[in-house]
Amino acid sequence: MEQNKKWWKESVVYQIYPRSFMDSDGDGIGDLRGITQKLDYLKELGINVIWLSPVYQSPNDDNGYDISDYQAVMKEFGTMEDFDVMLASAHERGIRIMMDLVVNHTSDEHRWFVESRKSKDNPYRDYYIWQEAKDGREPNNWGSCFGGSAWKYDETTDMYYLHLFSKKQPDLNWENEKVREEVFSMMRWWLDKGVDGFRMDVISMISKVPGLPDGPKAEGALYGDFGPYVINGPHVHDYLKEMRDKALAPYDTITVGETSGVTVQEAVKYAADDESELNMVFQFEQNDLDGGEHSKWNLDKIRLPELKAVLNRWQTYLEGRAWNSLYWSNHDQPRIVSRLGNDSGEYRELSAKMLALCLHMMKGTPYIYQGEELGMTNVPFEGLEDFRDIESINAYHEYTENNLIDKDNMLEYLRYKSRDNARTPMHWDESPNAGFTEGTPWIKVNPNYTEINAKEQLGRDSSVFRFYQRLIRLRKENPVIVYGRFELLLPEDEDLFMYTRSYEGEKLLVICNFSGKERSVTVPEEFAAGDVWISNYERQSVRGELSLGAYEALAIHI
Ligand code: GLC
Repeated sequence: MEQNKKWWKESVVYQIYPRSFMDSDGDGIGDLRGITQKLDYLKELGINVIWLSPVYQSPNDDNGYDISDYQAVMKEFGTMEDFDVMLASAHERGIRIMMDLVVNHTSDEHRWFVESRKSKDNPYRDYYIWQEAKDGREPNNWGSCFGGSAWKYDETTDMYYLHLFSKKQPDLNWENEKVREEVFSMMRWWLDKGVDGFRMDVISMISKVPGLPDGPKAEGALYGDFGPYVINGPHVHDYLKEMRDKALAPYDTITVGETSGVTVQEAVKYAADDESELNMVFQFEQNDLDGGEHSKWNLDKIRLPELKAVLNRWQTYLEGRAWNSLYWSNHDQPRIVSRLGNDSGEYRELSAKMLALCLHMMKGTPYIYQGEELGMTNVPFEGLEDFRDIESINAYHEYTENNLIDKDNMLEYLRYKSRDNARTPMHWDESPNAGFTEGTPWIKVNPNYTEINAKEQLGRDSSVFRFYQRLIRLRKENPVIVYGRFELLLPEDEDLFMYTRSYEGEKLLVICNFSGKERSVTVPEEFAAGDVWISNYERQSVRGELSLGAYEALAIHI
């Protein structure tokens, strides 16, 4: 089938979590000037789009995902002038900037909410979702993503407001046309400034089912699940089409929706190839595979056949209809080498490269989260006092105080799954604090920075960084990697992830051993005379029966 070619399909995106990327002024918090200083590093890696986690003014209840002014820069990160310099410097290097757009909610310190809560007839009242008490308590049984009820009582008007995240993140009322107009005009303001697109935070949750009914409550759960009445709600596609018309259409943008709860059937609406809504979405099915009775809090491992089934479903269902995003990590997920690879000793680098190859040879736009290109690992946090993340801290209290999980186990779960694993400072070099800051970092540095850091890896051809660089270059040079059709082989195999890509007579075979064991595999006849494009074992050729080493991965081209 003829492919609809687009620059954003041919791109590789790098996510920066500004708070932890590079601190230029010694206050222990990363900043915009720090990012500007490191643009050459990113250019060297080869990426061409940066997704910038929020840099807007914020009281930082949720590290910038609670915005109090959409048109101002967070003081700790610098000034609007610093932003403009960063943007221009990125553009000079051929790197585009995709902003985080957090518009399901604002901060409770946003001017709109400050007004809204003043009185029932305030002009901003309907910017948010207010409800009367029901039978003397919360309007419904929904729990918030960060623990507790999703409703907060507000004395001034004797009513409750909805917050799907923290109490300091009241949900905007998207049914109100004025809210939509405000958001679209703010987006145009940034686009006129020259930014290149948006990553849209929890965008699948902006439309709520009228009446806000109670959600299903699992046995033993403290609250009901808002999912069925919030996720992919009744008007979400209307709102996104309106956003396309009123904000995005005149500009050449890249857009990706963060869409928890999205299925492939929904994704072909959000990310349809006709660009009527977004360019692509982040699906959560791959991350939800190790969830359980207590949401994500456990030590369970994802089983490879299940992971393959999910990714295969996305690769094949979206073919010719919509575009995929490809990611292992972001600021909300633990480090991938600790989750799906092996983060200890000799296997760390091999498994980090194997995971990279597996993802970057699939169809879609790949996303790299800062430090992933070095094979950064989870962090040996000691006690609760080491954690900074509101989700982790609230979950610890909620589960332990209600006797659902004991304290030691909960700490183990936090060490394995906490979002803080991804949020410790970037490892630049072996100097104190990994070269991230000359002050005291806002969160502890992972002690393994003396061994794992950018400086060391830039100086070594066999490093994880150099491997990512090669993967990105291969993608840039070979349309089969961007546009080829995906086909999964050996779906049931417990150790091997194997697939082909086909495009205009070219074919690629990708073989990844997800296990620490040696494994043999038969290379399909047609690939016997193929070229090995990339291998984490420096393998030069393949023939017939292949004996794979632990975490070995390679791609063969014919
Ligand atoms: C998204 C963000 C996450 C944030 C939440 C609320 O899931 O990625 O970091 O806490 O939305 O804004």
